[in-house]
Amino acid sequence: MRKKIVAGNWKMHGSPESVTSLCEGLVNGVNASAPECALIVFPPFVYLSQVQAALAGAQVHLGAQNVSQFDEGAYTGEISINMLKASGCEYVLIGHSERRHVFGETLETVVAKFKQAKQMGLTPILCVGETLEEREADKTSTVLAAQLQSVCEALPGDTTVFDGAVIAYEPVWAIGTGKSATPEQAQAVHAQIRQFLTEIGQINANSVSVLYGGSVKSDNAAQLFEQPDIDGALVGGASLDADQFMRIASCNKSS
Ligand code: PGA
Repeated sequence: MRKKIVAGNWKMHGSPESVTSLCEGLVNGVNASAPECALIVFPPFVYLSQVQAALAGAQVHLGAQNVSQFDEGAYTGEISINMLKASGCEYVLIGHSERRHVFGETLETVVAKFKQAKQMGLTPILCVGETLEEREADKTSTVLAAQLQSVCEALPGDTTVFDGAVIAYEPVWAIGTGKSATPEQAQAVHAQIRQFLTEIGQINANSVSVLYGGSVKSDNAAQLFEQPDIDGALVGGASLDADQFMRIASCNKSS
């Protein structure tokens, strides 16, 4: 069963005060009119406990923006899956384009993190997407196929690798640029992702939720969500404004 989701990636934004008011806005929004989709927020690590407390009882799930591929040990600066679970996280972003392109996270590391999350019971949201150069060179489907294929290769013979996982298609050229993919461009890639999952032998390919991310705002969300293979959005900038985030969520109807 494909789940409808609207997720907010707060990136490296916020102060204790702004996080308090953002959470208040979300709680008020959910209480005023509960959206038909699941809501998830991804605050910076240091605010996870604060957000968990502020959202207690509200229908908003918690996730982390990154995780270590290791269990525990001498890994200065890293955060483990168990630490995230103890802070109330149910989800984790894996391979966000800023991790890949700004911090040089390799395909190998992304795959190790995905595997770790899957095996230790935290739902991975695997971010995939092409750069502008790759799109212009007509390499979008090859790049996405490699990003998905590598995850399957890390779990050989497992035809349920993506069961319960979420994929976020985020074209790198659309992130934080104000230049969203058109609904048709996004739909075409989402359909390819689903097709590709079937080809690589995922038995439940049609039940994987595939979100779109990249300059989603309240004024373009509805058209994106109307597309048959778009199950929701991973929202960056617009998720820092509770009203706008709730307006986006209200466009994601359950049928
Ligand atoms: P944006 O970011 O909505 O600000 O483009 C999306 C993301 O990076 O997840």
